[in-house]
Amino acid sequence: MTTQTLLEVRDLSVDYVRDRQLVTAVAGVDLDVRAGEVVGLVGESGCGKSTLARAVVGLLPRAGGTVTLDGRPAREVGRSARPVHDRRLQMIFQDPYASLNPRRRVGRQIADGLPHSLTGPAARSARVGDLLVAVGLDPEVAGRYPHEFSGGQRQRIAIARTLAAEPSVIVADEAVSALDASTQAQVADLLLDLVRSLGMGLLFISHDLSVVRRIADRVAVMYLGRIVESGPTAQVWDRPQHPYTSALMAAVPRLGRDAELPRALTGEVPDPASPPEGCRFSTRCPRVAAPCHVDDPVLLPVGTGHLAACLLAGATGAGPDDGRPLSLTPRTLPADDRHPTRKS
Ligand SMILES: Nc1ncnc2c1ncn2[C@@H]1O[C@H](COP(=O)(O)OP(=O)(O)O)[C@@H](O)[C@H]1O
Ligand SMILES: [Mg+2]
Repeated sequence: MTTQTLLEVRDLSVDYVRDRQLVTAVAGVDLDVRAGEVVGLVGESGCGKSTLARAVVGLLPRAGGTVTLDGRPAREVGRSARPVHDRRLQMIFQDPYASLNPRRRVGRQIADGLPHSLTGPAARSARVGDLLVAVGLDPEVAGRYPHEFSGGQRQRIAIARTLAAEPSVIVADEAVSALDASTQAQVADLLLDLVRSLGMGLLFISHDLSVVRRIADRVAVMYLGRIVESGPTAQVWDRPQHPYTSALMAAVPRLGRDAELPRALTGEVPDPASPPEGCRFSTRCPRVAAPCHVDDPVLLPVGTGHLAACLLAGATGAGPDDGRPLSLTPRTLPADDRHPTRKS
């Protein structure tokens, strides 16, 4: 059975202007989200996750690339004076206070998201009640104000308002990151249930790998504006093929000890204004080899539905962290590829 692809992002780039210099914060990203699927997007702070999210939903202009939703182009900033929101694409942010109006009753705010085609106050308030139930709240709370709720409940209200618009795809940017651990899990599980039951797609962005591991069907790992690895969540977790993915996972706190960054991830993410020559991870990579300073690796298959952008990935048929020496045969691409291997 093939599942319908709802969101198709192709070769997306986003630039900022900083000190009159062009900074490419997202550099040629491909991403798909299918119906009923949660795709996790992970990576350290500053790697470009929020920039990617905002450009996908049309809150930031794209420097290049395309975003397609249900087979049609998503609306794009720049075609009108103000940023435009494509109704079919909805975003949930980390802080629901920033998106909920403190002076309006939450039921009204959820109703704002309903399509205009749903007419009549009774029908609209019934739908608001249904949406509150869908996110695990009592329909009676519609008359209350945001400050009367806990952080987790406010995020549920933000989710209800998002659902009111009947989106195809929801982009959640650190949507549970501000919540305590048990509330995080509950809200993440709610999102997963909604995606499955409504057949939506969810791009779930988090710097926290454990919550992504919990709900994502597939995961994409971002480093310095690029996707460096993607694949089915279990496969990426069990057999990471990019040293950056391995390092990120080693940094996930384990039971009984505090989180510590492995030696592999010392140092900062480089400034996207001047990315390293060759592989963007070469300046921090524990397995860096001579070709890595020259060739810019592209995503290539390393397993079923599993891609990695590492010159050393898949060279032994095992993960780069299995301790065995790796062959240094550079993996090159056909000449017509979009991101040709750079030689210097
Ligand atoms: N408004 C902005 N102007 C200039 N640079 C920005 C702006 N927003 C983000 N950046 C830069 O873009 C890069 C990616 O940032 P961001 O998308 O916020 O990363 P993440 O969400 O993964 O933490 C960073 O280098 C950041 O400094
Ligand atoms: Mg962010």
